[in-house]
Amino acid sequence: MSYGKRRRTGYDPASIQEYTFPIENIPRLSARDPEVYRLIQASRPVVISDSGLINSALKWNLGYLQENLGDGSFHVYGSKDNRFKYYDEKRAKQCKSFPKPVKRYEVSFNDFLKMLMEKKNTRERIYLQQMLNESVGQEIVKDYVDFNWDWVGRIQNEQGWGPLSSNLLLIGLEGNITPVHYDEQENFFSQISGYKRCLLFSPDQFENLYPHPVAHPCDRQSQVDFSKPDFERFPKFRNARAMEAIVGPGDVLYIPMYWWHQVESLKSLSPIDHKLRDFSTTTSSGSSGDIPPVTVSVNFWYRAAPLPATVKFPISAQQRVSVMRNIEKLLASALGSADEVGKLLSTMVDGRYNEE
Ligand code: OGA
Ligand code: FE
Repeated sequence: MSYGKRRRTGYDPASIQEYTFPIENIPRLSARDPEVYRLIQASRPVVISDSGLINSALKWNLGYLQENLGDGSFHVYGSKDNRFKYYDEKRAKQCKSFPKPVKRYEVSFNDFLKMLMEKKNTRERIYLQQMLNESVGQEIVKDYVDFNWDWVGRIQNEQGWGPLSSNLLLIGLEGNITPVHYDEQENFFSQISGYKRCLLFSPDQFENLYPHPVAHPCDRQSQVDFSKPDFERFPKFRNARAMEAIVGPGDVLYIPMYWWHQVESLKSLSPIDHKLRDFSTTTSSGSSGDIPPVTVSVNFWYRAAPLPATVKFPISAQQRVSVMRNIEKLLASALGSADEVGKLLSTMVDGRYNEE
């Protein structure tokens, strides 16, 4: 049985950072193993090694994407270090003093490739994160149609999930980190090329991970930086326990809704040849040799299943997170300001609900 086996080859083990919390392996199973469906049913993470979900995309190197991704525009993030902390643009505008953790660019795919080559010698790291949309070329459409929709559609139906909402394409430099956060959708996270280390934490670790307030631009993100945790501000982070999966080409990781995850691009032992066509423009011509190694992933975000007609008590950790989010939103709207939420909650709790 391959239960609990970690993927061991392809990446440089020295690119795995050490952290303060204990880590256990996420099961890695074949799509033929019925345990996969039991785990998904129980909202537990699992790596599926042979679903074939994105086999038609395994040829998506940068040269192929350059030829076929079309002339749409792409969101590219820039960071002064290796962390790419997400923030909500609208809420950031409303905030008086919010230092933006990353810069946002909107560029053509060719410009992204140029940035990859030119930024090699600068401090700024970049990370492309773009929803696949109708601007992609014919060949990509064909590959997309050839995804294993039978397999993923069967799970979607069995689980009663809502529709597929989007597929995010992620192309990042080795060493890039998406800091720990949770999403409000079910996710089949699929690795196309290179290796990623995914650290997951169950939703019952809400208090260990100290998410920003719901109205904050960094809603859903943890305030804790794993590489230098501030235990004075976040003492319960000492109780955090992670589950880990290292995913490589063809692997699919199920990230259940509300599960915390941090995603780290590892160093490949044998970076692939991107077969890049030379740029026809007047700027510096590029060959694959000028392109630093990247990782390529695409995710499948599904809307949650609707709430069951009768709720079972005690409610699940996921449902508790949902309840807390709703209370924070309700208070902000009832008080006309998100700044008043904390004070009101303290007034309600202090000396009343937190007495022994
Ligand atoms: C996700 C996610 C981050 C990454 O797919 O939900 O957080 O860097 N991905 O791949
Ligand atoms: Fe995510």
